[in-house]
Amino acid sequence: MPIGFIGGTGLSQLPGVELEGEIVPTRFGEVAVQRGRWAGQEIVFLPRHGSDERLAAHQINYQANITALKSLECSPVIAINAVGAIREDIEPGHLALPNQFLDFTRSRPQTLFDQPGSEVVYIDVTEPYSPRLRRLIAEQAWELGLVVHQDVVYVCTEGPRFETPAEIRMFATLGGDVVGMTGVPEVVLACEAQIAYASLCVATNYAAGISSQPLTAEEVHELMDQCRPDLLRLLEAVVAQVDPSAPV
Ligand code: HPA
Repeated sequence: MPIGFIGGTGLSQLPGVELEGEIVPTRFGEVAVQRGRWAGQEIVFLPRHGSDERLAAHQINYQANITALKSLECSPVIAINAVGAIREDIEPGHLALPNQFLDFTRSRPQTLFDQPGSEVVYIDVTEPYSPRLRRLIAEQAWELGLVVHQDVVYVCTEGPRFETPAEIRMFATLGGDVVGMTGVPEVVLACEAQIAYASLCVATNYAAGISSQPLTAEEVHELMDQCRPDLLRLLEAVVAQVDPSAPV
């Protein structure tokens, strides 16, 4: 089974990995993926903002993306998400592995079971992110000497704007640790599709009001540019550790 990657802001290509484009039809629409081999394993790479990063978070077809990865039998799936840090000890450049999320999205289809007459499914999201996959990523990050915060709470906003400082204070009060725009409903749909899924977050900035500077998309991209080599080393190390005969 191929290992799936969902690339986020600043990671819409996998430099150095030879991949071939493929269009995957799904009942939610077509999905452009890239397939190839990395560290001896079959992989599928799906840049969620498109390979030219033209899709904003609220425009992404999350249903199609997860359905495409499921139809390619990807397991596990590692999603990469740029986030703002709500907690001060999560510094720009640090990694974070959420174990819970808070959903503040507003207008996104939240289920794969949405057809008239579909079975009624109440999915359990007690443990939305695969504990084994999170552990594997954390161990490889430690091996590489990278700072990785575990068991963080990911707050997902609708975007495409950044948050107000008042919203960030509210999220902090509610227990949020990092904030982004793309984690939900992706993780929920992965749960519905019964895909072992984890989100590897890269803190690209302090969230609004935590840093005294106004936030810019350039800042997010610059930090991702700096982090990309370490991130790629980590992903490659994780790929090498996944046993395809005993998927995570
Ligand atoms: N807020 C929301 N999404 C983000 C941020 C942020 O501060 N940084 C990167 N993605």
